Amino acid sequence: MVDVLLGLQWGDEGKGKIVDFLAPKYDIIARFQGGPNAGHTLYWNDKKIVLHTIPSGVFHPELLNVIGNGVVIDPVSFKAECEEIESLGVDLIRSLIISEKAHIILPTHKALDKASELSKGINKIGSTLKGIGPTYMDKTGRNGLRVGDLLQKDFKERYNTLKEKHLTLLKQMNFEEDISILEEDFFAAVEALKKYKIIAVDYWLNDQIVQGKKVLAEGAQGTMLDIDFGTYPFVTSSNTITAGLCTGLGIAPKWVGKVFGISKAYCTRVGSGPFPTELLDETGDLLRKTGNEFGSTTGRPRRCGWIDLVALKYACMLNGVTDLIITKADVLDEMPNIGLCTAYQIDGEITQQFPFDINNATIQPEFNYINQWDKKLSTCINNDDLPHNFNEFITQVETFTNVKISFVSNGVGRNQLIIRK
Ligand code: GDP
Ligand code: IMO
Ligand code: MG
Repeated sequence: MVDVLLGLQWGDEGKGKIVDFLAPKYDIIARFQGGPNAGHTLYWNDKKIVLHTIPSGVFHPELLNVIGNGVVIDPVSFKAECEEIESLGVDLIRSLIISEKAHIILPTHKALDKASELSKGINKIGSTLKGIGPTYMDKTGRNGLRVGDLLQKDFKERYNTLKEKHLTLLKQMNFEEDISILEEDFFAAVEALKKYKIIAVDYWLNDQIVQGKKVLAEGAQGTMLDIDFGTYPFVTSSNTITAGLCTGLGIAPKWVGKVFGISKAYCTRVGSGPFPTELLDETGDLLRKTGNEFGSTTGRPRRCGWIDLVALKYACMLNGVTDLIITKADVLDEMPNIGLCTAYQIDGEITQQFPFDINNATIQPEFNYINQWDKKLSTCINNDDLPHNFNEFITQVETFTNVKISFVSNGVGRNQLIIRK
């Protein structure tokens, strides 16, 4: 069976921490989409680690960690990440397995990402500039290079052909950058990547599943950044939803078991695009400060707002969420009252459906408010410790989404998690 854990909002829901917590129940942790745009934080021996391309099971020595075909890999950032983790004593040569079908981010993909954002001006996506969009464009445009190609004799030739194509595009976009400076690092990183196990993950993983091994697929980004169902065009370039694990690992839907959907107890977004419950006032500032809401990958301040149950219910539907996980509940300890958005008012009409025309619509969110709870969630250990008003918050989320909350996370540490059933 393959369980999946993914974000239900605009990313950064705390996936890294929860994967790290659940990992001992599994044999294999597998990333199925995204790339170094992700930043998954976990704490290991009190040390803060931010993972970008490597799965969050890597600090459990008995597990195997897979980078699936749906992931895009930047050899340069991958090498730096491997070196950091290996310096902590982790044996990645043993525990890391990379799909030969995963696509490679070239230096020119990163330049194209920058050029594309510049050309969009105020309408820019707010991309992490890691080359994600251009690499997935080359994948679907059938021009891309894959990890397996690195092992072929004609790799350099194919690299040069694609690079020349990119340089022509960059010229047309009036974007100048000296790529040759970046190439030395790129080719050194390509050599480093070849040290790891590069295999037919599709065959291998299916074989493991048939043998009864338990797999946890780790999503990156979040449902509202999904290329098909997110707030297009302010999205990433992959399918972040449950369906993405089938195409991103080569796993048939019949093997999918539990779907763990993660939502913060409030909402954040980094980058541009619609955010109906955004708080542009001191309440938003307080959430940012208390929740330390600054991007794990880019350090940018995250936009903050109340939990959006309209978007959350949509995300639960798209993913078939079986278990909800609420993170950063402790951050709300500081708030005098807590909002939950239960509907949108658009042009005088009330709706509980996430609208197609979200970018142009003027949305007035409707809120239920809950008064501050009388006990710090950060001090709670068991379900029975939870204060009455927080239980009311949970009931409202469960009733609206029709999904049970299985865990409440109340701190950054691996074990700061309250099990609800
Ligand atoms: P991811 O991308 O979904 O893995 O999330 P990030 O790592 O980008 O951002 C989540 C941030 O919240 C990290 O700094 C975590 O250490 C932190 N975090 C996770 N869970 C909790 C929690 O329950 N409470 C608090 N206060 N912080 C949390
Ligand atoms: P994790 O896995 C939050 C956002 C970017 C931008 C948009 C497109 O840590 O939750 P891209 O670089 O993919 O072209 O950027 O998506 N974004 C994320 N926001 N968490 C992430 O990953 C993100 N990955 C991309 O800020 O708005
Ligand atoms: Mg993150």
